[in-house]
Amino acid sequence: MQIGTPLSPNATRVMLLGSGELGKEVIIALQRLGVEVIAVDRYQNAPGHQVAHRAHVIDMTDDQALRDLIVQEQPHLIVPEIEALNTKTLADIEASGLATVIPTVKAVQLTMNREGIRRLAAEELELPTSPYAFASSEAELQAAIDAGIGYPCFIKPTMSSSGKGQSRITQTSEVKTAWDYAATGGRVNQGVVIVEGQIDFDYEITLLTVRARNAQGEIATYFCEPIGHVQEKGDYVESWQPQAMTVKALEESKRIAKAVTDSLGGLGLFGVELFIKGDQVWFSEVSPRPHDTGMVTMASQRFSEFDLHARAILGLPVDVSLREAAASAVIYGGHASKQLAFDGVNEALAVPNADIRLFGKPESFVKRRMGVALATGKDIAEARARAKLAASLVKPKVV
Ligand SMILES: Nc1ncnc2c1ncn2[C@@H]1O[C@H](COP(=O)(O)OP(=O)(O)OP(=O)(O)O)[C@@H](O)[C@H]1O
Ligand SMILES: [Mg+2]
Repeated sequence: MQIGTPLSPNATRVMLLGSGELGKEVIIALQRLGVEVIAVDRYQNAPGHQVAHRAHVIDMTDDQALRDLIVQEQPHLIVPEIEALNTKTLADIEASGLATVIPTVKAVQLTMNREGIRRLAAEELELPTSPYAFASSEAELQAAIDAGIGYPCFIKPTMSSSGKGQSRITQTSEVKTAWDYAATGGRVNQGVVIVEGQIDFDYEITLLTVRARNAQGEIATYFCEPIGHVQEKGDYVESWQPQAMTVKALEESKRIAKAVTDSLGGLGLFGVELFIKGDQVWFSEVSPRPHDTGMVTMASQRFSEFDLHARAILGLPVDVSLREAAASAVIYGGHASKQLAFDGVNEALAVPNADIRLFGKPESFVKRRMGVALATGKDIAEARARAKLAASLVKPKVV
């Protein structure tokens, strides 16, 4: 593996498609390895734009715009950070030998749509998942619930993330509202929803799984310690690492994560979301890239999930070891504003072992994630209490 000189003809160039808070950290990790980074997003001054060598604003679902930019920038690697992309363009680009898509075009295509990844996991790999059905009208949705999914159930647009358009319902009278919400809440309105029976889990985890080259140059699979998290309305609010698990549940989690990531292929870090009850494990979904709940690794691991992704995609070795127990807690905007200010950063950083990241997003919404508090502790309870306290001390204000 050779890394060239940034901004020279032999530079190693990586293009991020999507440059939010997760992309920003991947860019910083790549920059530390001397990589030339091009950040792309659909709006100006995205977090990753602010730390890259070059920044571009395009509609990444537009074939011509995406193709032209790739031809202009000549990246060696293309790293998707979001799901709303023209994957057909990416497939063409890779087939013509212009660039390699991380982790693979197949992974990006299957995970951008809940139907693709669910059918792969449940039907092809025969992994345990919640009962599910797809529906393209309210009547089909009702019929699927009546035919066996039952209540409570979750209704989600097939193309969405962070809980957008998602609802949990407990009775027939709620089906119409859930359908309307899902049909309008997806990133790309496909008018198709997935309905899933509720899994009555004890806890849920993200198992960060890394496909990277070992000392022999072969692709090997590595697992970080499991990350526990709390979700509110489908969006993560708190995470911690390590999550205590039974030996059997951890083994089963690794088996499922290995099966899914082997099938998606390529190099890079994946966030495998799993539901756990006792020794039983269900696959939920997977991100073929760093995961929001994995931000805790910026405090808990020697190498964060972003460092690991950067190393893995460049064909470099990884070290997934845990350093100490840690937790993360989300800082929301609390206001809609283009000039948000954060008070109380001094108080937050006075919390023992606490740290924060403010993402630098140019526009805030009440429930937009604007930052995260991180903390370590002697155990998970202490780390969580510190992270939550630090997050609560950061006070977003409109000035
Ligand atoms: N079938 C289910 N049974 C029980 N809980 C569920 C089910 N589906 C979703 N949930 C809950 O809702 C959360 C969000 O669901 P999911 O991960 O599918 O949505 P998402 O929009 O992709 O969210 P994100 O992008 O934050 O991962 C899950 O982490 C879990 O807490
Ligand atoms: Mg999820």
